[in-house]
Amino acid sequence: MKTIIEPFRIKSVEPVYFTTKEERIQILENAFYNPFLIHADKVLIDLLTDSGTSAMSSNQWAGIMQGDESYAGSSSFFRFEKTIQDITGLPIVIPTHQGRAAEKILFSILGGKEKYFVSNTLFDTTRANIEYSGAAGVDLICEAGKHPSIPAPFKGNLDTVALLKFIAEKGAENIPLCVLTVTNNSGGGQPVSMQNIKEVKAICKTHGIPMFIDACRFAENAFFIKLREDGYADKPIPEIVHEMFSYADGCTMSAKKDAFANIGGFLAMHDEILAQQCRNMLIMTEGFPTYGGLAGRDLEAIAIGLTEVMDEHYLQYRIRSIEYLCNKLIAAGVPVMQPAGGHAIYLDAKEFLSHIPVDEYPGQALVGALYVHGGIRGVEIGSLMFGKYDDHKKLIPAQLELVRLAIPRRVYTQSHIDYVSEVIIEVFQEKEKIKGLTIIEEAPMLRHFTAKLKSIE
Ligand code: F0G
Repeated sequence: MKTIIEPFRIKSVEPVYFTTKEERIQILENAFYNPFLIHADKVLIDLLTDSGTSAMSSNQWAGIMQGDESYAGSSSFFRFEKTIQDITGLPIVIPTHQGRAAEKILFSILGGKEKYFVSNTLFDTTRANIEYSGAAGVDLICEAGKHPSIPAPFKGNLDTVALLKFIAEKGAENIPLCVLTVTNNSGGGQPVSMQNIKEVKAICKTHGIPMFIDACRFAENAFFIKLREDGYADKPIPEIVHEMFSYADGCTMSAKKDAFANIGGFLAMHDEILAQQCRNMLIMTEGFPTYGGLAGRDLEAIAIGLTEVMDEHYLQYRIRSIEYLCNKLIAAGVPVMQPAGGHAIYLDAKEFLSHIPVDEYPGQALVGALYVHGGIRGVEIGSLMFGKYDDHKKLIPAQLELVRLAIPRRVYTQSHIDYVSEVIIEVFQEKEKIKGLTIIEEAPMLRHFTAKLKSIE
């Protein structure tokens, strides 16, 4: 088979920023070992997130010029609404300025004390919005999803046995919603199978629990279903996507991922009563229901992006480019989540830096080392992001200590990715030199965004 090429050519470019290793050591120290506190013009290859960082197409930029900025009844909204209705089959569409705004609205309506939201794995902002409402978020990832180095086709699946047990224990009346995150971002960008979506829906339906999809990376998930699940090899992506959503009562979406947009999101659902409550809150917090915190031009860019993302040449290139990096790392013996996820590489920091205990945040230490060594910015998805304290202020660590290197869509070329693999492999060869970190300042929620750390000498 020939090389799978980038299915686009480049019309407009922007610079990347070179710094020396000595400069980066200082920059990292000044940023308190937190990649969120590093200025972007001091980063060479920015793999902090795939969110809002995509390259928009010439069609999307053309759509921007067509944006109808009317406060009410914008024609851009109706194009946006129809596109989402066609893709998902969900009749009610509510725009929001990004994914977490959709979550905030949904969970402030459905949440509250003594309620439980079950999921394969909730993303950090989703969990925070649930907990902020007073409710608890419960991750019920399947067994395969708990073992980074053991490959399996659908490591994002929800454990249905655990779901049944949880419902029996807590009572369906205390579970307002089940959330399936596709792909499972915090668990390695791993996909959820159609079979699992179907089974979860059946269990939820029996118990009267609605099921929503956190749909940020729906097209990447659909492509994995096509590649890996029996009976889907010959189905077009839009058909697979439609089937995925056919089992859902609704979805939350961040258009900053699989819609290639720099900003945007939405809620979609069947339930008119819930939608009315959402719209009422939307008007208070985001804006009128035909723009919901977005400009008309954003609605256009999202509608076009949602269609572009289902192109199979694009998805083949997308999934292959992540796998390409993953394979290089595996060949060099670097501990990495397997198989490759849909949008990112996840280094297993617990294994990579086995000399650093979890309460010295090996993931964050590895993020720092990649930056110093090669100007690459990644993010810790481990105990800094998800750790909690017990009553004695002792860390209750996260299940996994991962470092995510998220690949922005249509932005970096193969040689950028080759460079990234070279840096990771060099860091791996010198891993003993890397030291653990301690927190010197932190916020009570979502602490990883602003925490200040220092190196343990
Ligand atoms: N759900 C998932 C699975 C996500 O990955 C994100 C964002 C959100 C919800 C929230 O969407 O950012 O538009 O408010 N993930 C980004 C990331 C930030 O880096 O993975 P948002």
